[in-house]
Amino acid sequence: MIRQECFRGKNILITGGQGFIGSSLAIKLTEFGSKVTLLDAMVDGHGGNIFNAEPVKDKVKVIHEDVRNVGIMNDIVRDKDYIFHLAGQNDHVLSLSDPFPDIDINIKGSAVLLEACKKYNKKAKLVYTGTRGEYGKAAKLPVDENAPMNPKGIYELSSLTVQKMFKIYNDNHGVRSVTLRLTNIYGERAQMKHDRFGVANWFIRLALDNATIKVFGDGSILRDFLYVEDTVNAILMCAQCDEAYGEIFNVGNDEPSSFLELAKTVVAVAGTGRWEFASFSPDRAAQEPGDFYSDINKIKRTTGWKPVTDLKTGLKRTVEYYRKHKSHYW
Ligand SMILES: NC(=O)c1ccc[n+]([C@@H]2O[C@H](COP(=O)([O-])OP(=O)(O)OC[C@H]3O[C@@H](n4cnc5c(N)ncnc54)[C@H](O)[C@@H]3O)[C@@H](O)[C@H]2O)c1
Repeated sequence: MIRQECFRGKNILITGGQGFIGSSLAIKLTEFGSKVTLLDAMVDGHGGNIFNAEPVKDKVKVIHEDVRNVGIMNDIVRDKDYIFHLAGQNDHVLSLSDPFPDIDINIKGSAVLLEACKKYNKKAKLVYTGTRGEYGKAAKLPVDENAPMNPKGIYELSSLTVQKMFKIYNDNHGVRSVTLRLTNIYGERAQMKHDRFGVANWFIRLALDNATIKVFGDGSILRDFLYVEDTVNAILMCAQCDEAYGEIFNVGNDEPSSFLELAKTVVAVAGTGRWEFASFSPDRAAQEPGDFYSDINKIKRTTGWKPVTDLKTGLKRTVEYYRKHKSHYW
């Protein structure tokens, strides 16, 4: 359970706060009475969308700035109780052709934040959202936090590097943090303009456009898709848990689904669109780790969090949201 009193009246910074997960987190924290600041550079092709924070627009402070801006970051961290670091280059297809945004935004941007906290605010508690892609192909299933780390691309490598940086600042510089490895997240407020990241949401877009969803291979690859509200709860339950600091947690779902099941459920829930099998493109094949689902026993044991939204329910809510607010996302 989230202990709302941990966040009530607290000063909170969410980097990447106009994006998918960041804005969902902001809405929940605002319900709890937190004083929330969103920092977002509104990077092209990413999930930053002014409409995402519409329900709380009069309650949050919004700063359109870059996490790499040392002056801004040194200033903005000073009075914060919690900092959720979600700003990042997360286009893993882009990182195949250009590794520099990952290095610059993810690694340098995180270093700027950590240095700012080291110099100006060691009382802030930080949470970083890395990716399950840090593991690469699963050596065995489900994948726990001690599994070998073999990232398949520069995006995933940058996430692993940032995770280690947070750990160094936690252990050596007194900047406390929890770091997470998120699985594939879907739900309301994700970008719907392209298919370079966010596969479950992209399936929804195709169904709502009455188009055909391409299911690569035979569709049997398993993934532990997780609904955004469960993800936000995981982030907050880690932030409120003293024992979580200095630790790494998988945030996933112990009920994996196949891509075929995902496609069929999306089409059934939307009542429009269709699906068909297709061959992997070379880019997709290069990045596809095969079956992956997370072992989430550590986060369950330590924080009490567990996912509660099944795939059909999460997809239903997501479809309803985009039907209503399509004009802001298409
Ligand atoms: N959504 C997922 O399935 C998933 C899975 C694993 C990890 N993650 C990680 O979680 C974080 C949030 O993901 P999301 O899905 O909400 O993505 P998103 O693209 O919706 O949000 C990220 C936000 O960061 C902002 N941003 C990018 N570079 C910035 C910079 N230099 N300065 C300030 N803002 C910047 C973007 O404008 C965007 O609004 C990312 O770091 C992502 O890599 C997401």
